[in-house]
Amino acid sequence: MRERGLAIVLIGFMGTGKSSVGRTLAARLQLPRYDTDELVSKRLGMSVADVFANLGETKFREAETQVLHELRTDAEAVIVTGGGVVLKPENVEHLRRLGVLVNLTCDESALFERLSRRIRPLLQTENPRATMCELMRVREPLYRAAADFHIDTSELTHEQVADEVMRSWKRVAAPHAQSTA
Ligand code: S3P
Repeated sequence: MRERGLAIVLIGFMGTGKSSVGRTLAARLQLPRYDTDELVSKRLGMSVADVFANLGETKFREAETQVLHELRTDAEAVIVTGGGVVLKPENVEHLRRLGVLVNLTCDESALFERLSRRIRPLLQTENPRATMCELMRVREPLYRAAADFHIDTSELTHEQVADEVMRSWKRVAAPHAQSTA
């Protein structure tokens, strides 16, 4: 039995483009796309921002773990995760059963620029940039340890990131595809 599933799993800090790249990949590969933020939102009947505001982060994290564990491990799919998914080792373990983990990274200033366009619940603080840096400091090693490979998205369009993901995914998930390429 395969230990790893066939999915492409996108992880990484908020604002690294996981959702957009996930949509591009799913369309190109004609695969179903599962986005844990969307699944949580559907499950709880409100936006992620409202979950944080009305029910709190703990409830969000519980629901995130639940929806994640309901994803099938034998399905070919593109899976998009929220930036905090790596905080629980059990989430990472399950994601690694689902498929190949791709960590999207971005340098600090490009990231803050992107995040300023849509402020996330966790960055609604007095000093969003300092909060972002602190969260990055804590999480970066977790993304690094969890992922099979890493793509720096700072200078790339979503289409270019999707190209890179597909290239690396073929190398990791289907090494035989290389010899025929
Ligand atoms: C979070 C990131 C968000 C969302 C929630 C918490 C985080 O997803 O899951 O606001 O803890 O980093 P994105 O990474 O898609 O912004």
